[in-house]
Amino acid sequence: SPIKQDLAGQHWVITAGPTMEAIDPVRYISNHSSGKMGYALAASAVERGASVTLISGPVQITPPSGVMLVAVKSADEMLAACQQSMSTQADVFIGAAAVADFKMKTTTNQKMKKQSDKDEVTLTLVKNPDIIATLAQQKRAKVMVGFAAETQNVIEYAKSKLERKGLDIIIANDVSRSDIGFNQDENQVTVITKEKHWEPEKAAKSQLAKQLVNFIHEHSQSAD
Ligand code: C5P
Repeated sequence: SPIKQDLAGQHWVITAGPTMEAIDPVRYISNHSSGKMGYALAASAVERGASVTLISGPVQITPPSGVMLVAVKSADEMLAACQQSMSTQADVFIGAAAVADFKMKTTTNQKMKKQSDKDEVTLTLVKNPDIIATLAQQKRAKVMVGFAAETQNVIEYAKSKLERKGLDIIIANDVSRSDIGFNQDENQVTVITKEKHWEPEKAAKSQLAKQLVNFIHEHSQSAD
């Protein structure tokens, strides 16, 4: 049977993948995020009729058909693209990107030269903006959903992240487990709101994405 188009008329904005922070014109700081979870969420929101903007750092996967892809590199670019796509308030924002915590304090237009008399080099880094916290404060979407990758006290840490960043839902996973999470096709998460916890069974990211989109939609209906 055809999939119910119950998200028709809604705008969902999803970030995915890593960010890439330039050191100089040829080098960068980044991380191993594959983008799989964010892309799977975008695919299932589109499948249910939402208009989806997928704001993605550099990844090796093909965007799901029907999404509006905005390709970015740095966290600053990702934040600007989010704000632009939510100049009118979106229904749902999901921050699935692994945003680099730090960027270079200053970047140069020239390649940094190797100084043969030096065995050490010092790079000065400064904090990146917290994209999701900024967007939550600006109320850019009715429902704000974040991810939390933790290695211990998963629920406790995720809960404090929910409050600190002003989110409605946080999706936590235990990245100390090698069978799930980063770069894997399967994931097991705990979904946390102010009122409840929910632990769906370990599943393929594409399957899990459908359950998560469903949960987010139901939560947003109950908040209306
Ligand atoms: O890295 P952290 O555990 O704080 O990430 C939690 C959530 O915040 C994730 O949804 C991530 O996409 C988002 N985040 C962000 N901007 C940052 C750091 C994290 O939007 N600079």
